[in-house]
Amino acid sequence: MTTAEPILILGIDTSCDDTGVGLVALHSGGRMEVRANRIWSQTVHASYGGVMPELASREHVERIDAVMDDALLEAGVSVADIGAVAATSGPGLVGALLVGLMYGKGLAQGLGVPFYAAHHLEGHIYAAASEAELRAPYLALVVSGGHTHLFDVLSEGEYRLVGATRDDAAGEAFDKVARLAGLGYPGGPAISEAAKRGDPTGVAFREPMLGQSGYDFSFSGLKTAALLAHRAGASGADLAASFQAVAIKHLLRVTRKAAEHLGRETVVVSGGVAANTALREAFGKSELRAVFPGQGLNTDNGAMIALAGAAAIRSGRAAHGLGDGAVAYAPLANVE
Ligand code: KG4
Ligand code: ZN
Repeated sequence: MTTAEPILILGIDTSCDDTGVGLVALHSGGRMEVRANRIWSQTVHASYGGVMPELASREHVERIDAVMDDALLEAGVSVADIGAVAATSGPGLVGALLVGLMYGKGLAQGLGVPFYAAHHLEGHIYAAASEAELRAPYLALVVSGGHTHLFDVLSEGEYRLVGATRDDAAGEAFDKVARLAGLGYPGGPAISEAAKRGDPTGVAFREPMLGQSGYDFSFSGLKTAALLAHRAGASGADLAASFQAVAIKHLLRVTRKAAEHLGRETVVVSGGVAANTALREAFGKSELRAVFPGQGLNTDNGAMIALAGAAAIRSGRAAHGLGDGAVAYAPLANVE
């Protein structure tokens, strides 16, 4: 291989209920380019009202080969072209994580290429590298079904947690409000759709205020207020529009406050909730330089893990051994 040829990195995420496989080309100048991003979203959980861990693992086992083939096809490459493998090792459901992790390790071993264990949240942040070069320092707001975390990224790979939800994650609140209003699952897209027909001032929500210091978030009070409004007869559309508006207002206010105090201009907004159009508009209109992941890279996917792997390779981080296992809980923050 000549030095001008890009390194092709395979990324795998099986942390929850999506089987994601992606391919990223790392060019010699450091540019990262998404070549494929295939996702199999599990639907078996719909009737249970939540993700069933054992069913998730089994479905990953059944699907991963096909998703891998699709990704190779999309990129027009073969397995032999893969130059490095990255797979999520945590946080997530351990049985589910193990499927992608072992698949990735086996592949790396078989091909004789380096293996990188990736942190799921680092993957969410690097999803935005599909759209813009991320130059630290910057803020990273990860808003998903399981996380609402605000990081100050001090330098590449150096994360300080500056804020987090005190109760429900933002996506979890979207899901719960959608369910109580009978709007369907997953709740984020359902709320976003219903909100287009509703009045954002139709239900009087009050934004959670958590004192004057710190950059924490809270969503459980909004969920309770939504339940009361629903019982009082608010329409699903008004409830969706009003809830969405106040949730976005809250996320934006706290993030702006942190950006101002910490002197940051750029904020990466990623995770499933970052797919929300109204949220993108609100952040886009603010004085912040908001960077969002490209299409298909907001919710869990393999390309974001390949991007995190590419960043690790680019900054000369050592590859991981094959000994490290899957971890259910793993903080990303590594700076106090
Ligand atoms: O990142 P993700 O796929 O999984 C986790 O790691 O949690 O995020 C899923 C979450 C769900 O709660 C879903 O309702 C939410 O992201 N979501 C949205 C939208 N699309 C997905 N929330 C608001 N608006 C959307 N358009
Ligand atoms: Zn996620």
